[in-house]
Amino acid sequence: MDLAAFARLLAVGWTLIRADALIPREVDPLLPTGVQTLGRFLRLFAGRGAKVGRPGERLARALESFGPVAIKLGQVLSTRADIFGGQFAQDLSHLKDRLPPFDTAIARAEVERELGRPIESLYATFGEPVAAASIAQAHEATMLDGRRVAVKVLRPGIERRVDSDSRVLLMVAGLVERLIAPARRLEPVLFAKIVVRALELELDLRMEAAGAGEVGEVMARDSYMRAPAVVWEGVGKRVLTLEWANGLPLSDPATLDAPGLDRRALADNVIRGFLTQALDHGVFHADLHEGNLFVSAPSTIIAVDFGIIGRLGPVERRFLAEILYGFLMRDYRRVAQVHFDAGYVPRHHDIDAFAQALRAVGEPVFGRAASQVSMSRLLAQLFEITALFEMRLRPELVLLQKTMVTVEGVARRLYPDHDMWQAADPVVRRWISRELSPVARARELADDAVRALRAIARMAEAQEAGVTTVAVVEPRPSRLAWFAFGAAVAGLAGVLGYLLG
Ligand SMILES: Nc1ncnc2c1ncn2[C@@H]1O[C@H](COP(=O)(O)OP(=O)(O)O)[C@@H](O)[C@H]1O
Ligand SMILES: [Mg+2]
Repeated sequence: MDLAAFARLLAVGWTLIRADALIPREVDPLLPTGVQTLGRFLRLFAGRGAKVGRPGERLARALESFGPVAIKLGQVLSTRADIFGGQFAQDLSHLKDRLPPFDTAIARAEVERELGRPIESLYATFGEPVAAASIAQAHEATMLDGRRVAVKVLRPGIERRVDSDSRVLLMVAGLVERLIAPARRLEPVLFAKIVVRALELELDLRMEAAGAGEVGEVMARDSYMRAPAVVWEGVGKRVLTLEWANGLPLSDPATLDAPGLDRRALADNVIRGFLTQALDHGVFHADLHEGNLFVSAPSTIIAVDFGIIGRLGPVERRFLAEILYGFLMRDYRRVAQVHFDAGYVPRHHDIDAFAQALRAVGEPVFGRAASQVSMSRLLAQLFEITALFEMRLRPELVLLQKTMVTVEGVARRLYPDHDMWQAADPVVRRWISRELSPVARARELADDAVRALRAIARMAEAQEAGVTTVAVVEPRPSRLAWFAFGAAVAGLAGVLGYLLG
C-alpha cells in the first residue's frame, strides 16, 4: 500500500471523527447495532465543531479543509439528493471554495512560463487577484490593445496535490466497495472516478476556454445571456484569459438595488437562457450561481466560469420533452412508458405501479399556483420516485436538475414573486412542439435510415474483402432486404418531413 496515501487517509479520518461526520449521530437509527457501537465509541473523540450544525454542514466544513479533491467530492455528492436525502445534499452544496490568494509575483511567473513569453509582450497591466479558490485564482489585467480582461491562473503545484489526493480517494472507494457490502450498490469506485475525471478536466484551462467559446456561441444565438469572449493568445493549460465581464456582481447584495435594473426581466432571462442552452442546443453552463453572474441595466446577464459544462444528447432531450409533455397532459402512463422504453427502469418492474408513483408526484402540482411549484423540485421528486424503481439516472440529467435548482434560486432572489413556469413557457412550448412534432420524428427516422444504410454498406464491404465474421458468412437475404426496404421508407419519410417542415 501507498504509505503517503495511507497517512493522509488517517489524517482525513481523524478530522471526520472530530467533526462527527464519519458516522454522524443523526443516522444512528438507520444503522446496525455493531456500527452504532462503533459510532458511539468514535464520538468520544469528537471536537467542539461536532456539536454545531447538521451532518451535511459538518461534512461540508471538514471537506473544505481537505482541499480541491474533497471539495469536488462534496460537490458531486451534493447532486445526489436521491441517495442521501434533500437536506443533506443541500447542506453539502453550500460548500465554500474560497482560499487566501497566492502572490501576484508568482502568478506573473506562472503566466510567463505557461505562455512562453514575457508578460509585457501580451498584457499592458497585470493586477492583484480579485478572487481565489482551491484550484485557481483570477486577476484583473489589460491587453496591449487596451481591452480589459480577467486572467485565471492555476495554483502552483496543484496538479501534484490533486494527483496524490485522488489516489487517497480511489483507495478509500476501493476499500468501501470491498468491505461494506450495502455500499456496493452506490458504486463508490465509479463515483470516485467521476470526481477524479471532473478534476482532471478542470485542471486544463484550455478545456475551460473551449467551453466558454462553445457555450458563448450558443448564448449569442438568443439574447438571454452572454459570455465574455475568449482571448486565445492568453490561453494555456494553466492560464485562461477572458474579456472582462462588464457588470455588477450578482454576489453583491447591493447590486439588486442598483438603479435601472429590471429585476423581473433579469429573472426571466436567467431561466430562459439556461433552458434554451440545455433544451435547444444541448450544451449548458452548469455552474450558474450568483458568484459567476454579472448584470447590467436594464436586463443584461453575463456569465463567467465555464469549468463545468453540461451536455444533453438528442435522446435525453427527447426523453425530457416526453416526460414534461406527459406531465402537462397528466398522462402518467405515457411518462412511464417513456421511462421503460428508454431503458431507464429495469424491465422487471411493473409499469402501472410506476405510472401510479408518477401520478403521486404530478397530481399535487395541479391546482396550485404556478409560482408555488418549483420546476427543479418537480424533477427532484421525479428522481426520488424513480430511485424506488431502481432507475439509473444518467449523470447529465442529474447535472441538469442540480443546475435548475441553482438557476431557480437565482431567479427567486432577483424577483421574489417570479413565476418560473411562465418565464419558461415560450422556450418550453417551442421546444416540445419541435421535439414531438411529426417532422421531428421523420427527421429522426431519416437519421436511422442513413445509419442503417451505412451499416449495410459496411457489411457489403466486409463481404467483398472476404472477412469471415458470423454476420457476414451467411447474410440472411430476407432480413437484409427488409432492412433496406425499411431504410428506404424511413428515408422517404425524412425527405417528405423536410419538404413539409
Ligand atoms: N471575465 C471575467 N470578468 C470579470 N470577473 C471575472 C471574470 N472571470 C472571473 N472573474 C472573477 O473571478 C472570480 C473567480 O473566477 P471563476 O472563473 O468563477 O473561478 P472559480 O472556478 O474559482 O469560481 C469570479 O467569481 C469573478 O468574480
Ligand atoms: Mg466561480
